[in-house]
Amino acid sequence: MKFDTPAGTNPIDNKTVVGRPTSRIDGPLKVSGTAPYAYERHDVVPHQAYGVILGAAIAKGRINRIDSAEALRAPGVLAIVTHENAGKLGKGKMNTAKLLAGPEVDHYHQAVAVVVAETFEQARDAATMIRVDYARTKGRFDLMEQKDAPLVGGSSGEGSGAPPIDRTGKFEEAFAAAPVKVDVTYTTPDESHMMMEPHATIAAWEGDSLRLWTSNQMIAWGKGDVARTLGIPADKVRLDSPYVGGGFGGKLFVRADAIMAALGAKAAGRPVKLALARPMIPNNTTHRPATMQRVRLGAGQDGKLTAIAHESLSGDLPGGGPETAVSQTKLLYAGANRLTSMRLAVLDLPEGNAMRAPGEAPGLMALEVAMDELAEKLGMDPVELRIVNDTQVDPEKSGRAFSQRHLIECLRTGADRFGWNRRNSKPGQVRDGRWLVGMGVAAGFRNNLLMKSAARVRLERDGRATVETDMTDIGTGTYTILAQTAAEMLGLPLDAITVRLGDSDFPVSAGSGGQWGGNNSAAGVYAACVKLRGLVAARLGLGDNPEFAGGKVTGGGRSVQLLDAVKAGPITAEDGIEYGDLDKTYQQSTFAAHFVEAGVDAWTGEVRLRRMLAVCDAGRILNPKAARSQVIGAMTMGAGAALMEHLAVDKRFGFFVNHDLAEYEVPVHADIPHQEVVFLDYPDDKSSPLKAKGVGELGLCGVGAAIANAVYNAAGIRVRDYPMTLDLHL
Ligand code: MOS
Repeated sequence: MKFDTPAGTNPIDNKTVVGRPTSRIDGPLKVSGTAPYAYERHDVVPHQAYGVILGAAIAKGRINRIDSAEALRAPGVLAIVTHENAGKLGKGKMNTAKLLAGPEVDHYHQAVAVVVAETFEQARDAATMIRVDYARTKGRFDLMEQKDAPLVGGSSGEGSGAPPIDRTGKFEEAFAAAPVKVDVTYTTPDESHMMMEPHATIAAWEGDSLRLWTSNQMIAWGKGDVARTLGIPADKVRLDSPYVGGGFGGKLFVRADAIMAALGAKAAGRPVKLALARPMIPNNTTHRPATMQRVRLGAGQDGKLTAIAHESLSGDLPGGGPETAVSQTKLLYAGANRLTSMRLAVLDLPEGNAMRAPGEAPGLMALEVAMDELAEKLGMDPVELRIVNDTQVDPEKSGRAFSQRHLIECLRTGADRFGWNRRNSKPGQVRDGRWLVGMGVAAGFRNNLLMKSAARVRLERDGRATVETDMTDIGTGTYTILAQTAAEMLGLPLDAITVRLGDSDFPVSAGSGGQWGGNNSAAGVYAACVKLRGLVAARLGLGDNPEFAGGKVTGGGRSVQLLDAVKAGPITAEDGIEYGDLDKTYQQSTFAAHFVEAGVDAWTGEVRLRRMLAVCDAGRILNPKAARSQVIGAMTMGAGAALMEHLAVDKRFGFFVNHDLAEYEVPVHADIPHQEVVFLDYPDDKSSPLKAKGVGELGLCGVGAAIANAVYNAAGIRVRDYPMTLDLHL
């Protein structure tokens, strides 16, 4: 089904099931520990052996020699695969570095070998007996040493041919002439996804066909990249990933667990199960790259921005891409004179890539603090400053409207709900015992992406319906919103719908990434249901467009039980949503206002969050309960980014030192105060027939800045280097 004109009224608008705060269908499985995660699928294939990966002990250089003799003789060892016996391997489209090192080593903990043994302990023990002789070469590990790294034309997509500096109007002249201005530089650190479930795969060969039970956000990308890496046809690869214990972008791509399990299984002639040990994940897999961001804002005394510049520096391995931290600055505020650019340094650290809201999450931690700094210089309320600079059109492409944009309503609603009028605009004035107390605000912004997505729906003889799509549920509520969509479309109760996800034999979906999963995959199910409704109507002879409600189909003056349609056998329909140019005609984005109250201990400088509020404008909310869970989780992640999270780089040896959850600090419940989430819930008829948009990443965008601004308002200290830890700054 092509979606290329704004959606008219359709069954989703009835909202008898869609739009209800529905508990997750998979919730009981999750809380009872019975959801079958990849590493726990003991029953899918017999005789599973265990794989353990040995990671490179150097960041850059060559492997001279690998001596596996002792390890091979160790008890229980079935096989060892290294670059010397792996055969020719390719590289996945989505991988920057190869997943098996050799003879070159590209980064620390890049896989060097996999040991397969009868038990996990035997494999782990034998891995320590492999002797690798490395020739270490000098690497580049310090981003700040490469401030003049080359500009990349990546702000409109890497390799898009976009000019390396995006300009609208005349920034330099306007900035020089601006009566009020700020010129400030912020840094954000490398961060790790630290999802609960580690990357894990069980691999089994049946002849030349490979099955992988794995944990992956993007099944079709994964299938293609496994085939590319192993040099086998894609139709010989089947991935199954029905439950994913968090991904945050770290499982968008095939990683070493899948490839090394497949290689180990081939060598051992046995299925192999393999999980990345927690201390291997930050250096073996991807991370959010550190940035240095300079923001210059010039405004008139009325607060209207006349000049906006945002320049970002980040690094990655050769062939990698930048952290697109300037994306939101192109679209968030009006202003005639604008400049954005990104520099990309070559670093020999592990591979940088997407982590939840890549680009906007760190980008807003700079832009939205700069706005706060500007508001103070102007003597203007920070909420008002954002309101006077609102735009209803893309400021770089004049006349191109946003499909919807209610940022002002987010800010006003939030200010009202939060009691913003009680904020003292002078910092360091409000005391509560030993705590200095302050409030901060930031705008949130994240684009809404349209991706084609397909599904298959089968109406069974017993009147139940089954939805199948290779879409994933990474803890986001996909099972539930897809069931809600099918229930609404077929006029069935929610518990009459079974949703099956994550199998690459199912129709190809949008997958889970970039907050595009919910809207697009639900639209794919909608398309399949429209087709199914047509088949049902034809079988029942009910003419065009009958109504489906309460288990009945009504059309042409007749009302028939839906069950009657399947007396002669089940009916299956497969279709997908495909988009025309609606996202080119209209800029599609999501908006938020984040409000935070923070306390700063007057004696120790300790920061404690006291209250958090998010007001979100993200189209129709398909399931307010699931969406709220997404947003409060994202707000928690924003607290981590502002106050705790930081992969520490060893600049001598080129690796992330704090590579486990003992030393990489993330928020716990005790760090998070009362959180409130408000959804404006305006259906956007240009986003899809569901009229929904992404919301999961929006919840993170702007949170860090709101916290930084609250800390400043509390203590009068402006911290521009994240995370805002006491040891460094107070
Ligand atoms: Mo998200 S970082 O695109 O999984």
